[in-house]
Amino acid sequence: MDETVSQSAANIPRLGRNVTRRVNSLMGVQIIGTGSYVPELVRTNQQMAEQCPGCDPDWIEQRTGIRERRIAAEEESTSDLAVRAAQYALAKAGLYASDVDLLVVGTFTPDYQCPSTACLVQDRLGLDAPAFDVQAACSGFMYALTTAAQYVATGNSRLALVIGADCNSRIVDQTDRSIAPLFGDGAGAVLLAPGTMQQGLKAYQLASDGSGGMMLDRKAGGTRFPLTPEAIRSGEHYLQMDGRNVFKWAVRTVTESIEVVLESAGLSRHDVSLYVLHQANQRIIDAVAEKLGLAPDRFLNNVHKYGNTSAASIPLVLDEACSAGVIDRGDTLLMCGFGAGLTWGTSLLVW
Ligand code: UT7
Repeated sequence: MDETVSQSAANIPRLGRNVTRRVNSLMGVQIIGTGSYVPELVRTNQQMAEQCPGCDPDWIEQRTGIRERRIAAEEESTSDLAVRAAQYALAKAGLYASDVDLLVVGTFTPDYQCPSTACLVQDRLGLDAPAFDVQAACSGFMYALTTAAQYVATGNSRLALVIGADCNSRIVDQTDRSIAPLFGDGAGAVLLAPGTMQQGLKAYQLASDGSGGMMLDRKAGGTRFPLTPEAIRSGEHYLQMDGRNVFKWAVRTVTESIEVVLESAGLSRHDVSLYVLHQANQRIIDAVAEKLGLAPDRFLNNVHKYGNTSAASIPLVLDEACSAGVIDRGDTLLMCGFGAGLTWGTSLLVW
């Protein structure tokens, strides 16, 4: 093992925690609309290589499956992407902003530390609704969806707007070849409403393991290490990732979590209509498919077009699938988000 890897591994306190066996169920909710938005600017691997010293465009595609990603315009930020995704979702569903009575936004790249991005979106859409952010990084959408589902299932919300949005290009060092090519910007939204008792989250788990928090972190800019000129000079305000260890953790955790959720639902892996995993790296999705003994075409993917869009990736790929007409009522979708925290959220959703 090379020295850098052994040093970073030594910084990971435990990370031995097994995947929790806690699973819950929440029926009576349904997704009645989806929407998404990505910025217009496309940055190809070749363009990425031109700005990152030592970056090889073929390496990016071979090691991640990513060919290009979208980059927000200078005047665009997370709330702008979120608003556009929400507007598309409402328009496609034929619903009005005035119908929404709850807004939950999953993001780890908020416009500001305060106020929340959700409040900015609420104002722009003119919603009469409580609005709050959920910060669970790349699991942000799964956390936001599951949170909103509780309100809908209890009758405390009739139409919840759930958004996953991230403007990652603002928090990664665009000249660092080890991280810049991996991430992109985007947003996805779903509308959640009461459903039949056959629809909803047949089984789900939300989980966390903070012992691995430093595997994927932004050190400076919070109350522990406030932003200082020194911190900015040393790049501590940027996202850093122990990629190799996160990769191994992700493949193991996602596979085990899917198995636990399916077992709890009394279903086999072959009963699932579609697998919708967080789009971080095509090799992670392929490795999970292989471990589960499933053909790769059972898994949605668009990481080649957008890279890792964090909380946006699941609703983005879901919206593409809905637009392509590949999801029918009664289908079972196995959705799984995973990332910094460490966090993960896995749901078997009956559409
Ligand atoms: O969304 C939240 C969760 N995030 C993830 O799930 C991401 C998980 N991790 C990964 O996807 C992968 O670990 C990475 C894509 C980040 C890295 O892939 P890898 O196959 O684990 O590569 P590596 O980090 O082991 O790097 C292999 C080599 C290194 O060179 P040395 O040390 O062997 O000389 C890197 O410096 O590849 C080098 N390298 C590059 N070379 C050309 C790293 N980035 C590049 C690049 N171009 N862009």
